[in-house]
Amino acid sequence: MNLLLAFSLSSWAAFASAAITASESSTAISVGNGRLAFSVNKGAGTIDRLSLDGQDLLGSGGRLYLDCHCDSGYWNGGSFQLYRGTDKAGVAHAGVRISAKVDSGRTFESYYFLRDGETGLHTFGRVAYPNGGSLGEMRFLFRPSSSIWNHLSSSDEMWSVLPTESGRTTVQDTTYRISGDGVNARYRTQMSDYFSKYMFSESWEYHTHHGLFSDGTGTRDGSTYGAWLVMNTKDTYYNGPKWSDLTVDGIVYNYIISNHHGNGNPDTRNFDRTFGPQYYYFNKGAKGASVNDLRRDAGRFGDPSWNADFYDSIAQYVPGYLPTSGRGTWSGRIGLPASVTKPIAVLASNGRDFQDNNLDTKSRQYWGEVSSSGEITIPRVAAGTYRLTVYGTGIFGQYVQDEVVIRAGATTTTTATWAPESAGTELWRIGTPDRSCGEFRHGNELDSTRINTPKQHRLYWAVHDFPKDFPDGVNFHVGTSNITRDFNYMHWSVFGGKANTIRPEPYYTNVNTWTVTFDTTAAQLQGKTRATFTVQLAGVKTSAGNTDDTNKAFANLAYTVTVNGRALPVWTIPANQSSSCGARSAASCYNTHNKWTFDASYLQQGLNTFSLSLPARATAPESAVLPESVYLQYDALRLEVS
Ligand SMILES: *[C@@H]1O[C@H](CO)[C@@H](O)[C@H](O)[C@H]1NC(C)=O
Ligand SMILES: *[C@@H]1O[C@H](CO)[C@@H](O)[C@H](O)[C@H]1NC(C)=O
Repeated sequence: MNLLLAFSLSSWAAFASAAITASESSTAISVGNGRLAFSVNKGAGTIDRLSLDGQDLLGSGGRLYLDCHCDSGYWNGGSFQLYRGTDKAGVAHAGVRISAKVDSGRTFESYYFLRDGETGLHTFGRVAYPNGGSLGEMRFLFRPSSSIWNHLSSSDEMWSVLPTESGRTTVQDTTYRISGDGVNARYRTQMSDYFSKYMFSESWEYHTHHGLFSDGTGTRDGSTYGAWLVMNTKDTYYNGPKWSDLTVDGIVYNYIISNHHGNGNPDTRNFDRTFGPQYYYFNKGAKGASVNDLRRDAGRFGDPSWNADFYDSIAQYVPGYLPTSGRGTWSGRIGLPASVTKPIAVLASNGRDFQDNNLDTKSRQYWGEVSSSGEITIPRVAAGTYRLTVYGTGIFGQYVQDEVVIRAGATTTTTATWAPESAGTELWRIGTPDRSCGEFRHGNELDSTRINTPKQHRLYWAVHDFPKDFPDGVNFHVGTSNITRDFNYMHWSVFGGKANTIRPEPYYTNVNTWTVTFDTTAAQLQGKTRATFTVQLAGVKTSAGNTDDTNKAFANLAYTVTVNGRALPVWTIPANQSSSCGARSAASCYNTHNKWTFDASYLQQGLNTFSLSLPARATAPESAVLPESVYLQYDALRLEVS
């Protein structure tokens, strides 16, 4: 029996080994496993040929590569290393490292590994900056020029045909009005009259994969195909679950570093970091299979434990990849507030907001949903010291605990009780604290005029014409008004003007100041001395946009609240919390908040009036075609007394 097993195992290993082919010439390295084959072009430093079961997936001029906005921009060539081996399970693999030295001794490396029996590439990206400097973007791109790819998919709900560039007109930076017949007409009935790469952006919080789909039109035998980026690991990205970025627009991205939606760029002093692995997965389906059929198949790999043994086997080739021996398990027992839903526990950079962990060169990050009974287990956490943050829908604020130590090879259990923040008796709240403006007008409301009913915030913002929706401005009366109708998802200073082709003239009347009214009874105020007003923001765009640039007017943005005519201290929202958010189709970006505490005597029995103001006519020049107004997006607001 044992002998038989040993025999069959070793003969299988030999067969597996034989099934990987790899060859190198002065101009190319080619690797294949009988189904998936790729070739690295040494002159370009990119993968320029990729096929599955004989179907060309890239087309002529298409490529898969790592790209950066470093000082010299796009980089070519470099040095090349071919690896071949057999992993612990006896399965053969081959891999290629593309390594380039650019300005000031900086190193950029991409790694692609193919395993026998799989139809995807395991990718790692490494960047080393010995002396600091700008690193604005870093991303892998599967950039086909083949016409087989005719659908986009970023979630089960968010998919459509891919419109063509023919006849389109620019309405905003990388945002187009789509015209014409055929596929473009289909796009308009499925999704929108407009297309932007930001419409398919996603937050990493729950995201697992995105990609391109071919419905079989133009493939060799009519089979359907998919090209997916699967985030099987997320621990080397930054900004925790609140990272939000582009996923697919005809290119299948793996965004590693960017400042989109308020994402932070890393501190590059003494920087040497390897990102990944992530998995570019290619699949083939029967004729007539749907985008979500192939999407579901790709979703199987969105798990950090998947292929962990294989990654241990190749760790010797990938500097900075942390094998299983350097990892432990974290287990949480969290006393949760009774009314919380979707509680998320995050382990990230000790001593700082997880949204800012880009400033911690070595930071790793992990998160997951806590069960309703308060339990969570996260495997494969890098040994180290972390801040634990717990937040969830329905609860203002969050729970924070530093100095959570994870040891390699061990399970660490943290017991914690999240007592929700409170400043007395709640008189009212507007919105649901969930780090998003989705519950307000044009947020997550579906656009039922289109077959695929996209969430309205994903559309080109100008279609949500504020002056038409709110001719008298926002006047919200607590208790009778309706947040889905009477509270807009974006609070503008000015509506219209640049980047708004529907309302090209700026509109100012009743835009920058919103009014919230409510009634209080004598009993509610009886014996109360302090009032606390809390504003949580899902996102805010000061004139700094996605940069931290403080040179323009309104870069640090003044937000003013008055209570029955009395002004509270101005909240100046700093430029480094700014993000280009709603204008880039997002309902949640960099989150921030403020609390005002004031004498309860400002409140009165009967009708009370709060005004919430951005500075009037607060615009600053934009070099790109983008709206020049500042704006913010509320998560939730509440008033408490004690
Ligand atoms: C609130 O407004 C939305 C959108 O107009 C509507 O669908 C919903 O029924 C309203 N809710 C109530 C309680 O009136
Ligand atoms: C943002 O800027 C403020 C100073 O205005 C600074 O104190 C803070 O640390 C900065 N935050 C980040 C994340 O850079």
